[in-house]
Amino acid sequence: MDAANSYLQKLVESVPLREPLLRKIIASLNLPTGSHGLDAGCGIGHPTLLLADGVGLGGHVTGFDLIPELLAYGIQQAEQAGFSSRVTFRQGDIRSLPWEDDTIDWAWSADCIGYPLGDMAPFLQELMRVVKPGGSIYILAWSSQQLLPGYLLLEARLNATCSAYIPYLTGKGPELTFLRGMRAFRHAGLEAVEAHTYVGDVQAPLSPGVRNGLFSLFNMLWGQRQPEVTPEDWNAYQRLCLPGSPECILDVPEYYAFFTYTLFQGKVPHNMH
Ligand SMILES: C[S@@+](CC[C@H](N)C(=O)[O-])C[C@H]1O[C@@H](n2cnc3c(N)ncnc32)[C@H](O)[C@@H]1O
Repeated sequence: MDAANSYLQKLVESVPLREPLLRKIIASLNLPTGSHGLDAGCGIGHPTLLLADGVGLGGHVTGFDLIPELLAYGIQQAEQAGFSSRVTFRQGDIRSLPWEDDTIDWAWSADCIGYPLGDMAPFLQELMRVVKPGGSIYILAWSSQQLLPGYLLLEARLNATCSAYIPYLTGKGPELTFLRGMRAFRHAGLEAVEAHTYVGDVQAPLSPGVRNGLFSLFNMLWGQRQPEVTPEDWNAYQRLCLPGSPECILDVPEYYAFFTYTLFQGKVPHNMH
C-alpha cells in the first residue's frame, strides 16, 4: 500500500472513535446557520461533513487539503451522504489559500495546524486574511489519552518513547507545543481568545468500528518499536494491544478509556486590513 493510501486508511479507521466527540465539539461552537466555512487540512473530509451539518441546509463548507487521494475519498463520502451541494473539496496548501481577503465566515482546522507542535503563525496569518472581520478561527488537536486502564506506568513509558511524536519533537522548543497555542493566537492579533478541552470516551462492549479504531491508534502511537523500549514493555504491548492476543485489553469486560481534544479559538479583529 502506498503512503497516501495507508494514511487514508488510518484516517478512515479513526472515524468511529472520533465522530461522537467531534460532533459534540462542533455543536458547542454554535456555527452561524447558513454560513460559509473552511476546513483547513480536511483529510478525508470527515469533519468537513460534520461542520456542514452544523451550518444547516443553507450553509456551505469547503474542505481544503494537500493530498488529492484524501480529497477524492471526501467527495465520494459527500455524495453517499447526500451532502454534495453543501460541501466543496479543493486541493492546495493552506499557507497560500486561493481566496480573496475577507471572504469566508469562519475557519476550522483539526489535527493539522501546530499538531503536535509547530509554528502556527504563518497558518494563522493566512486564515485571518481570508476570514471576515468578526469571524472565528478554530484550531483543534488531539491532546492526551488514557487507553490502557490498569497499566498506568506501562502506558506512561510507551508514551515517553511515542514514535508518532518523536519526529516532531526533536530540536523544537517547548513554546511551539500545541497546548501553548494561545500564545500564537494572541501574537497574531486574534481577539476573544479561548481554550477548551473536550473528552471523548469509549467503554465495553466496543462496537467493531471502535475496536478497530483503537487497534489502529495503539499501532500509530506505540507500534513502531523505539530502541529504548525494554523487551518486557514490548512484550506487554504485544500481549495487551494486538488483535488476536488472548490477553488483549480490549476484551476486558470493564474496558474503559478516554482521550481529549483541545480547541483554541479567537475572532478576527475588525481593523485587520
Ligand atoms: C492528521 S490529518 C487530519 C485530517 C482532518 N483534519 C481530520 O481531522 O480528520 C492532517 C491533514 O492535514 C493536511 N495538511 C498538512 N499540511 C497541510 C498544508 N500545508 N496544506 C494543506 N493540507 C495540509 C494533511 O494532508 C492531512 O490530510
